[in-house]
Amino acid sequence: MNTLNNLVWHHATVTRQRRADLNQHQSTVLWFTGLSGAGKSTLAHALEERLYQMRFHTFVLDGDNVRHNLCKDLGFSADARVENIRRVAEVAKLFVEAGVIVLTAFISPFAEDRAKARQLLGDDFIEIYCDCSLEICEQRDVKGLYRRARAGEVKDFTGISSPYEIPEQPDLRVDTGSQDLESCVTQVLDYLVQRGVYQLK
Ligand code: ADX
Repeated sequence: MNTLNNLVWHHATVTRQRRADLNQHQSTVLWFTGLSGAGKSTLAHALEERLYQMRFHTFVLDGDNVRHNLCKDLGFSADARVENIRRVAEVAKLFVEAGVIVLTAFISPFAEDRAKARQLLGDDFIEIYCDCSLEICEQRDVKGLYRRARAGEVKDFTGISSPYEIPEQPDLRVDTGSQDLESCVTQVLDYLVQRGVYQLK
């Protein structure tokens, strides 16, 4: 039996639009995608800091953190990654309803999963490709995982033994391989204004 048949959606009186009016900004999802070490989390947190200073309501959903709690039952097989991204997209949707600018930092290597997230979130899905070559990510190797993956100690590692499908038409491409952090932040902020997420005062 489909249990959904016994459920009735309850409509809130505090709507998303009312929250946006109160907050003085729209809610949306900035979906950062790219290789491990490309700078997704660094950029997401630097942006959040700037948005916070503008008194905006924000929240970062970060791969490494979410895998400590909501997704701690998931590994890195293709199926597990699909489920990881599905959950994150659903959580992001709730945050959007709550009036928040969500910044997600997940490798999200599969184009099909990102397409599903876009389908779920519609115009609220802003795909930002953190473009940084495998060579540079591997040189940085902040967590030492590339070295361990090359040594065969970490299996299904993105870029080494598991694919990363480059976004063909991201909403925005940020060159996190060679641009400095501040100009990446500015590039995204300019884009948010262009998208009408907030207005310059
Ligand atoms: S995703 O592919 O499902 O989107 P997610 O962003 O949640 O991945 O997690 C990636 C992080 O997990 C990496 O930044 C890295 O620190 C860690 N990690 C551990 N094992 C792997 C692996 N096999 N492949 C990729 N990242 C891994």
